[in-house]
Amino acid sequence: MSAQPLQILGISGSYGMTSKNSLLVEQALLAAAESGAVVHHWDHAENPLPLVGAEGCWEDDNVKKFQDLASSCHGFILSSPEYHGTMSGVMKNSLDWIYDKHVGGKAFAVMSTLGGISNSNTLNHMRISVRWLHGWVVPEQVAVGKVKDAFSEDGRLKDSDLCERVDKMVASLLKMATFLAEE
Ligand SMILES: Cc1cc2nc3c(=O)[nH]c(=O)nc-3n(C[C@H](O)[C@H](O)[C@H](O)COP(=O)(O)O)c2cc1C
Repeated sequence: MSAQPLQILGISGSYGMTSKNSLLVEQALLAAAESGAVVHHWDHAENPLPLVGAEGCWEDDNVKKFQDLASSCHGFILSSPEYHGTMSGVMKNSLDWIYDKHVGGKAFAVMSTLGGISNSNTLNHMRISVRWLHGWVVPEQVAVGKVKDAFSEDGRLKDSDLCERVDKMVASLLKMATFLAEE
């Protein structure tokens, strides 16, 4: 890791820190913190982002805060619920508030949760959006199917294979973020 610790921002595609996606982001951020990164978790319930284009949105304080935080971070962990075969509106709207100038050339990792069996739709759709932000998404990714029963009471994934996938994805993200930060 570079002399300055890496700053990693987690963005959930759901409201509330007890949503499954926020729990998943939290698990990944904890792994990043254990490896020495400084981590941030954007709380949509506390700091809601207006819909892009809504009245007053261009002067919104939370938008400025979100963009400034994104600019100061080296890597990003995204986790979205699958809604009708794609990412949630909350996730898409979050990505719509950041641009190349905030996140271009930086590392991303993507995860998703599903009520049904896991697939890669939401993961692939987030990869496409991040490409338009000029970000680099690491190959490792995590999809959590049957999400209702996927977490234990302490908010961690029950399945040890999935936990290992999260850890490997985070390790890859930190490696890529370090490489890109030194460019
Ligand atoms: C509007 C809506 C659409 C959904 N569409 C799908 C879907 O296409 N496939 C699926 O497996 N689950 C679907 N679900 C279930 C969500 O993926 C699931 O509730 C979510 O991953 C839970 O995460 P959360 O606690 O962060 O909201 C949908 C749920 C909602 C509310």
